[in-house]
Amino acid sequence: MPVVVFASSKGGAGKTTACVVLACELARQGQDKNIGVSLVDADPNQHSAAWAKHGDTPKNIQLFQEVNENNILDVIEQAREQTSFVLVDLEGVASSAVIGAVSRADLVIIPSQPSQNDAKEAARTIKTIKYGARVANRNIPFCVLFTRLSAAIVTKTGKALFAEFDKAGVDIFECSLIDREAFRSIFSFGGTVNGLEADSRSARRSIEKAAENARLYAEEVKQRLMAVMRAD
Ligand SMILES: Nc1ncnc2c1ncn2[C@@H]1O[C@H](COP(=O)(O)OP(=O)(O)OP(=O)(O)O)[C@@H](O)[C@H]1O
Ligand SMILES: [Mg+2]
Repeated sequence: MPVVVFASSKGGAGKTTACVVLACELARQGQDKNIGVSLVDADPNQHSAAWAKHGDTPKNIQLFQEVNENNILDVIEQAREQTSFVLVDLEGVASSAVIGAVSRADLVIIPSQPSQNDAKEAARTIKTIKYGARVANRNIPFCVLFTRLSAAIVTKTGKALFAEFDKAGVDIFECSLIDREAFRSIFSFGGTVNGLEADSRSARRSIEKAAENARLYAEEVKQRLMAVMRAD
């Protein structure tokens, strides 16, 4: 079953958010279809695990916590056998756990905020992925996902970075993750974006927009995975 790895050498790039939001959306879509999602937390800070432990975690999300360089390959193998999707959240450094996860990935997602510094770190992460591809002796598809974008405007820096990655032949998600309170709230209170309670009409609208953003993002991930599987 496909393995999606979230990697970025930049701390705070949005790995855990992108990983948990995808896990929730895939779980929501799969809840009546016997589709399970493994959430593998291989970051010593255990932010994904902390989210899952808040409670209200969808029943078809299976958490693998405290995963490290010693057990990551075994855990990914086990998770692949047990669930339809395996999502791996990593630490913001280039470590042997990162190389191990990348070497097993069907798709590596590189979250990046639209800033020059984040783009530099994304380029560094791409080097690590290419190293992992050499170790695994196979092509490893990767793609940059812009995160925390302003809902209202595409910034000048954002446009320039998009063009820069494009020129360098780096694949970029068509969809971005918008900066939304709903994507922060699930880490404070647990549960999913769709399960958040709104105390006003505008809060309800904002949650709906975040839910729609998550749906489009998951759709694009699934399309990219299908393209990878077809190419194999
Ligand atoms: N789309 C978003 N909307 C709102 N807030 C976001 C979004 N993405 C990330 N954040 C916030 O940005 C901060 C960093 O995000 P996150 O923890 O996902 O990054 P990370 O790459 O996993 O960081 P680390 O390297 O520390 O593990 C968090 O406070 C998170 O709530
Ligand atoms: Mg994280």
